[in-house]
Amino acid sequence: MKEQLEALREASRALIDEAVDVEALEALRVRYLGKKGELTALLKQMGKLSAEERPVMGQLANRIRGELESRLEERRSDLAARAQEEKLREETVDVTIPGNVTRLGVKHPMNTVLDEIKEAFVSMGFDVLDGPEVEYADYNFTRLNTPANHPAREWTDTFYFEEDSSILLRTQTSAMQIHAMEERELPIRVIIPGRVYRKDEVDATHSPMFHQIEGLVVDRGVTMADLKGTLNLLVEKLYGKGTVTRFRPHHFPFTEPSCEMDVQCHECGGKGCRVCKGEGWIEILGAGVVHPKVLEGCGIDPNVYSGWAFGMGLERLALRRFNISDLRLIFENDVRFLEQFR
Ligand code: DAH
Repeated sequence: MKEQLEALREASRALIDEAVDVEALEALRVRYLGKKGELTALLKQMGKLSAEERPVMGQLANRIRGELESRLEERRSDLAARAQEEKLREETVDVTIPGNVTRLGVKHPMNTVLDEIKEAFVSMGFDVLDGPEVEYADYNFTRLNTPANHPAREWTDTFYFEEDSSILLRTQTSAMQIHAMEERELPIRVIIPGRVYRKDEVDATHSPMFHQIEGLVVDRGVTMADLKGTLNLLVEKLYGKGTVTRFRPHHFPFTEPSCEMDVQCHECGGKGCRVCKGEGWIEILGAGVVHPKVLEGCGIDPNVYSGWAFGMGLERLALRRFNISDLRLIFENDVRFLEQFR
C-alpha cells in the first residue's frame, strides 16, 4: 500500500507540473481525487489493512490528498495568471498607429441648393412632396389648362410612351399640382422637387433631364400679394437680405395672372454684365395665381378658394450659386469637379 501511495504521489506531481492549461488540471483532479479517482480507490482499500497499518496509511493518504489539492490549486492560479497575461498581450491596442481614414463623399451642389430651398419653405409651413416622373398627359397638360392642340404638347418637345400621347415623361413638376389638389385636404401648402424631361440637345445650358421645384398654395383669400411676399422671403434666404427682385407679366396656361420673377444681378448690382448677359436681372422662376379652371377641375370651388403657384429650375440656381459655367458638369459627376465642394 505504501508503495502504491508513493508511486501515485510521484506520478501525479509530474503530471500536474506538466499540465498546460486549466482543463488539463481539472482532468487530473478527477483522475486522482474524483469519486472514481485513483487515490479514492486506494482509500477504499484501507479496510483490508491490519489495525496497526491502517492509521499510518490513512495519515499518509490524507497527506498526499492535501498535497495534491494544494499543488493543483497553485498550478491553477499559475496557469490562470499566465493566460491572462497572454490575453492582455494579444489584445493590446497600439493607439499610436494611424487609423484607416475613410474618404467621405461630398454633398452634390444641387443638393446643397435643394436643401436650402426645402428648409426655407418648411420653415414657412410647407410640406415637401414627391411625385411620379412617368405621368399622364392629362395631369401634365390637360388639367393644367393646356389643351390637346397646344404647342407645348408637340412630339418634338415631349417624350411620349404611347402612340396616342397619353403617357409621357413629365415635362414640368406642375403635374403634381393636380395630384396635390386631388389628394390633399385644404388648405394646401406644398413644394414638390423632382426631375423633368424635355427633348433638348445637351449643351452648356440644356439637358433632356433637369430638376424643378414646384410650389402650390391653396386657401381662402390667397392673392398675388402672398405670392410676392413668400417668394421675396425665399430670395432673401437664398441671396441675402435686401436682395432686389421684380415680377414681370408673363403667360402660363394654368395661372392667371402669370409672371416671371427676376433677381437683380448680384455681380453688377443691375448695371448689366457678363453674368446677367447685360440685362441687370436674372430670371429665376415662373409663377402666378392658379387659374380658376384648374381649381374647378380638381373639385375646388374658385369662388371660395384661391391659390398661387410657382416653378423654378434648380440647375440654374445651382450654377449661379456656385459660379459653374457649364450645366454638363452638374450631371457628369466627375469627382475632380465634385471634390471642389468639400
Ligand atoms: N411649369 C412651368 C415651366 O416649366 C413653370 C411654372 C410657371 C410653374 C408658373 C408654375 C407656375 O407653378 O405657376 O416652365
